[in-house]
Amino acid sequence: MLQGKRILVTGGAGFIGSAVAHHLMLETGADVLVLDKLTYAGNLASLEALERHPRYRFAQGCICDAPRLAELFEIFDPDAVMHLAAESHVDRSIDGPADFITTNVVGTYTLLQATLAHWRQLPPARAKDFRFHHVSTDEVFGALGEEGLFTETTPYDPRSPYSASKASSDHLVSAWGHTYGLPVVISNCSNNYGPRQFPEKLIPLVIIKGLAGEPMPVYGEGRNVRDWLYVEDHARALALILERGRVGETYNIGGAAERRNIDVVTTLCAVLDDLAPQKTGPHRDLITFVRDRPGHDFRYAIDFSKLESELGWRPRESFESGIARTVAWYLDNRGWWEPLLQAHDAAARRGLATGGR
Ligand SMILES: NC(=O)c1ccc[n+]([C@@H]2O[C@H](COP(=O)([O-])OP(=O)(O)OC[C@H]3O[C@@H](n4cnc5c(N)ncnc54)[C@H](O)[C@@H]3O)[C@@H](O)[C@H]2O)c1
Repeated sequence: MLQGKRILVTGGAGFIGSAVAHHLMLETGADVLVLDKLTYAGNLASLEALERHPRYRFAQGCICDAPRLAELFEIFDPDAVMHLAAESHVDRSIDGPADFITTNVVGTYTLLQATLAHWRQLPPARAKDFRFHHVSTDEVFGALGEEGLFTETTPYDPRSPYSASKASSDHLVSAWGHTYGLPVVISNCSNNYGPRQFPEKLIPLVIIKGLAGEPMPVYGEGRNVRDWLYVEDHARALALILERGRVGETYNIGGAAERRNIDVVTTLCAVLDDLAPQKTGPHRDLITFVRDRPGHDFRYAIDFSKLESELGWRPRESFESGIARTVAWYLDNRGWWEPLLQAHDAAARRGLATGGR
């Protein structure tokens, strides 16, 4: 039962964190403190619906700031930490890896130390039930060929500065569990999509370009394969793992929806043709192939049978239903994303720094 638990959600003003905050507040009855630095990816508008709720609080702050963390742990006295704060965009990690090392590695270390200090002074019953849940990615496992799936025992083989920094943070979390006994759990998830995703990621980018009648960029020939998970299904999985996952375990989370990037884009075009037809012709005419990302992993696919058999979780949305809901959300919420385009040049192409393999 998460009802009445005090949960510190780092990165809660981001895409997945805001879905988690909504889920915890509206579906579980937990008390939530969102801690977020509000980088380009953090957006208070994503939390607007929760603002007046008596069980919800927000604090601006950086996970690298140890005194700020100590202060918030003291005030909020959490029963659990769900750690989602991160630099999360692979393309940005190629252009500028420094922030990824600072936030994802040093920040996770700093948060672990603050959590450990808090956990050590809890009374035994609360200390036993305490959880530190690290939200991570399947990208730590590297890339697959045409066949195979990532399982929880797949060796780590990160390829980008982003995935290397997430792999580092996973190892730190696991080490704090083994060395200090901190009750940790880690989840590794495939690509998310859905409402409130920053417009430079593939799915919102294509929707927004489509609505504007502008070229829709697709890397290489669009043959790279990702497994896609609707963000609210992810939030539900995370709450379940926090509540019932076994301490020290890792859980893979996937959408059972492997698609080539080009198929994702053509599905989006078909939904756009339905919901927002353009006079100049079908949206697929806007597809434009652009130079591939350096070191672009070919395929990710995830086996989530452990989560399914242990905790009974499966995604509720199919890829088609999730995409239709997502396009409808971006159509209905221009006021959320239009200011981001102006403020951050969010639809610009990133990640072209050369190198790679
Ligand atoms: N998006 C995906 O498809 C995906 C898939 C699997 C795992 N993940 C992981 O889930 C987590 C959330 O991803 P997302 O897509 O919501 O990311 P996001 O970029 O949308 O949000 C990240 C949030 O963290 C905040 N933040 C960044 N640096 C911070 C710092 N130093 N201190 C405090 N807050 C800081 C940002 O302001 C932002 O609100 C990340 O850890 C990511 O690695 C994402």
